[in-house]
Amino acid sequence: MQKTIITALIIAMFAAVGCTKKEEAAPEVTAPAAATGGGDIGVGPVTSLSLESELKADLVKNGSELFAAKCAACHKVDERYVGPAIKGVTERRKPEWIMNMILNPQEMTQKDPAAQELLGEYMTQMTFQNVTQDEARAILEYFRSIDKK
Ligand code: HEC
Repeated sequence: MQKTIITALIIAMFAAVGCTKKEEAAPEVTAPAAATGGGDIGVGPVTSLSLESELKADLVKNGSELFAAKCAACHKVDERYVGPAIKGVTERRKPEWIMNMILNPQEMTQKDPAAQELLGEYMTQMTFQNVTQDEARAILEYFRSIDKK
């Protein structure tokens, strides 16, 4: 009996996650189908992304606020914390990979070789912070601003 309830709860949780993901659509992302291949763009909803070399100031500001609210519990800019230091991440990883890590951290640490390696090193699973694709894009712009300095 208890087992049935637990199973139902787990199914409900997955269903809820599935629903929220479908609502996230950003115009920049051309192919919304989930990538399965891993590789250096990672695994998740973002399969291609075009960035302008000029930073978008409004996105940087928004991304910095989101980071403070949703990520700073585990990440610092300049030093290792629960997770890796953010500085230099846009040089280590492709922008698509970074967004997929933000939007799909669990599958990333299961299927993407680089994310798997991080999990092995940090021994904590990064959790999805309920950010939309647009919010992840803003955070990416903030990360780009850090590495431009
Ligand atoms: C519960 C702690 C936690 C939270 C909250 C968290 N992260 Fe992470 N993050 C990690 C850990 C730990 C890793 C390393 C991979 C792993 O073990 O899951 C990581 C990895 C990353 C990476 C890859 C870094 C690299 O060097 O390649 C990025 C980018 C990242 N996180 C961004 C974010 C953003 C943006 C947020 C907020 C939306 C966030 N994280 C929230 C713990 C967290």
